[in-house]
Amino acid sequence: MTMQYQQPNRYRQSAALFEKAKTLIPGGVNSTARATWSGWDPHPLFISHGTGSRVTDVDGNEYIDYLLGLGPMLLGHRPAAVTQAVVDFIEQRGTVFALPAAEELDLAAKISAAVPSMERVRLCNTGTEAVLYTVRLARAFTGRQKLIRFEGMYHGFSDGVYWSKHPYLAFAGPDNAPKPVAQGPGMPAGVEQSLIILPWNDIDALRETLEREGDNIAAVLTEPVMCNTGCILPKPGYLEAMRDLTRKHGVLLIMDEVITGFRISLGGAQGYYGITPDLSVFAKGLGGGFPVAAMGGRRDIMALVEQGRVSIAGTYNANGIAVSAANATLDILAQPGMYERLHAVSDRLREGLTRIIHDLRAPAHVVGVGPVLQLWFSRHPIHNYRDAVRHSDDNAFRRWWEGMLNRGVMFHPGAFENLFVSFAHTEADVDQTLAAARETLSEMLVA
Ligand SMILES: Cc1ncc(COP(=O)(O)O)c(C=O)c1O
Repeated sequence: MTMQYQQPNRYRQSAALFEKAKTLIPGGVNSTARATWSGWDPHPLFISHGTGSRVTDVDGNEYIDYLLGLGPMLLGHRPAAVTQAVVDFIEQRGTVFALPAAEELDLAAKISAAVPSMERVRLCNTGTEAVLYTVRLARAFTGRQKLIRFEGMYHGFSDGVYWSKHPYLAFAGPDNAPKPVAQGPGMPAGVEQSLIILPWNDIDALRETLEREGDNIAAVLTEPVMCNTGCILPKPGYLEAMRDLTRKHGVLLIMDEVITGFRISLGGAQGYYGITPDLSVFAKGLGGGFPVAAMGGRRDIMALVEQGRVSIAGTYNANGIAVSAANATLDILAQPGMYERLHAVSDRLREGLTRIIHDLRAPAHVVGVGPVLQLWFSRHPIHNYRDAVRHSDDNAFRRWWEGMLNRGVMFHPGAFENLFVSFAHTEADVDQTLAAARETLSEMLVA
């Protein structure tokens, strides 16, 4: 489908920069989620700056920002205390020493205090690395090769897991036994033999697989809330049953909390739902917008790292910028009342959208937990990736997205992404968003 913005004049400077960018940078952008084929069609918006809950593009348009850098700007843009901590560290101490600094201990202690399953912690820079290390560790600890993961989830772009994120159903096998589908060419041959792809939210599929070949399975890797196919909540009891079954079969449970961690609660989704995984991964919520990630979990598993048998390396791991940013962020997040306020503002948005949809009888529904949500243009409930592919109306989502953008509300144009609320969003931001939503949906329904 060839796209054009409804009001192209508003985005002239972005369009011009994109034309130039394409001559230097393949696809004109530095990551897939910003590309035309991910929804930023005919061109992404180029951003000038962000402040708190708002971003301004190079054409001078200001938006209430629910993209939040795809999640990291949990404290809003340029949170003063985090910026200051990073500047102080750089100016007074340095950035990279390839030797430890005392502040790493503080950070590890804060992470373990917030998330008790993180008995031992290692730091790195991105979610992709943290997942890669964690899966390697699970294989080393169990002596088993296979990994269960779920269709529609994303765990970073490393060869071992960048499969079946959003496959074409024609190539993806039957509903109850999906085939691994590589994200694209270039994956090493044979990786798929170590992967079992299952539909999410289907406890029978997981039980049958573990009963059949649990002895070969090192780990189940899952997001606790599916945040990479829009927002899909776990069915009641699903995560608990997953925990029981994995434990019964000696299979490690790895929770990828790159999105949910420090966002849904200080203890992540695992704290919110009361599930204790064996290993976990954190990233986007941890650094107040700076690149930092953490992986870790059970002491006996992490002991493999301690003994040097599983090597977790990285020149930039625990660099001064990452550690000072994360220490400052966690100090803010641990203040009393923070998450109550975040949830109150987020609930106002989710409940407001739900009310508008109900008032207008729009063919849509809102799904979310705390500050992560998505609006599905579907009357059908969405429990897994295939429900989303079959029932979500992409054209309606595009019209909704453009209508909101033109009214000063920014989020990702992909229906399979999310809206993120930050600690900087106010009730006034939400009310302005809801007014834009009512207008946009009304306009869509008469068109
Ligand atoms: C659940 C999940 N895991 C892992 C990743 C990869 O993290 P990063 O982009 O920091 O490598 C992402 C990124 O969106 C994610 O959403």
